[in-house]
Amino acid sequence: MIIEPRTRGFICLTSHPKGCEQNVIDQIEYIKSKGAIDGAKKVLVIGASTGFGLASRITSAFGSGAATIGVFFEKPPAEGRPASPGWYNSAAFEKKAHKAGLYAKSINGDAFSNEIKKQTLDLIKADLGQVDMVIYSLASPVRTHPETGVRYKSVLKPIGAKFQNKTVDFHTGVVSEVSIEPAQGDDIDNTVAVMGGEDWKMWIDALKNEGLLAEGFTTIAYSYIGPSLTEAVYRKGTIGRAKDHLEATAFTISDSLKPLNGKAYVSVNKALVTQASSAIPVIPLYISLLYKVMKEEGIHEGCIEQIQRLFQDRLYADTTPTDDEGRIRIDDWEMRTDVQARVAELWKEATTETLPKIGDLKGYEKDFFNLFGFMVEGVDYDEDVNEIVEIPGLQ
Ligand code: NAD
Ligand code: NA
Repeated sequence: MIIEPRTRGFICLTSHPKGCEQNVIDQIEYIKSKGAIDGAKKVLVIGASTGFGLASRITSAFGSGAATIGVFFEKPPAEGRPASPGWYNSAAFEKKAHKAGLYAKSINGDAFSNEIKKQTLDLIKADLGQVDMVIYSLASPVRTHPETGVRYKSVLKPIGAKFQNKTVDFHTGVVSEVSIEPAQGDDIDNTVAVMGGEDWKMWIDALKNEGLLAEGFTTIAYSYIGPSLTEAVYRKGTIGRAKDHLEATAFTISDSLKPLNGKAYVSVNKALVTQASSAIPVIPLYISLLYKVMKEEGIHEGCIEQIQRLFQDRLYADTTPTDDEGRIRIDDWEMRTDVQARVAELWKEATTETLPKIGDLKGYEKDFFNLFGFMVEGVDYDEDVNEIVEIPGLQ
């Protein structure tokens, strides 16, 4: 079939297998071009199919020659209906990994559930014996708690006061005022339940209890801070409380890993266009201004450049530098004083009329469509493609 983008609000309903494959190939080539990284050899990636998780899987496999198991929640294709992009990404990744002689298997299902944890543990037991690294990169709006069955929904709201600021609809380029009511009731707790650290700890505990963590084991999860411009709705909002919890959980996990000489890290990453971040109000306007400034400065990075730098210069460097709160920072270029000062100036000037010039709306839009395999260079979109693509190592 010929597959075209079909958008509804902040999501794209279709995705292109060849475009997704090309994205994965480009990321693999980038990692190979940067040379070997002396990293972990048996890696479990939770949230492995898109964004930072996919980049982490690619960097582990093609940078360090690691065997990888990927866990994700993606929609398989059906006759006449394309899969979700993470399905095609994972298919392309495994094809390339297997060709390179690397072990790669995947599990598609709810990572929050006991069933998927058990299936993953059994696979590690049978095939790898142990893992020496777990990358935790889930981004989900909901979580069903495995013990109570309660279904939590996360919300993106400010805390304490109404938030009012500019935002952009990146499909139309229209800049408008948004107003978001503050969190109420159980909003904060619900968001922490979904995006906080409880599930990360459950995974590590389950693996540890079964003896599946190697000596010197490490685990890493991803966080975000961002500037004062977005702080009311992000870092000081409900999602920020979840990130606080995730970051605190790193210390709890590190304590539990002491007998193994293991360690849990949080890395604070840069703001990037992913399926998760497109849904957050205000962030798309911030990102389009940030991209403009960072590209002008020659310091723009995507997920793969970020994770390559994280592994090479931080995680597997001789020393792993962290901030006062023990976090690895690869948002250092985003947070540079000159970059943020410039973004803050542009923010004041941003209107529907000025944004095409002062912001990188085109770059935002391209990155957004790229997530779904569209607008990817080197892909012939007029060509008939088979939407039914298998993931070779899917369990
Ligand atoms: P993403 O949407 O690209 O990836 C999410 C992954 O989680 C996918 O592989 C998806 O299949 C998987 N997933 C979602 N729900 C699942 C479930 N129930 N079971 C199994 N798998 C599930 O998101 P991302 O932007 O790469 O985010 C990953 C992490 O990085 C998040 O913690 C996010 O907060 C953080 N982060 C993102 C940004 C950003 O700007 N995008 C910046 C800094 C940190
Ligand atoms: Na991810």
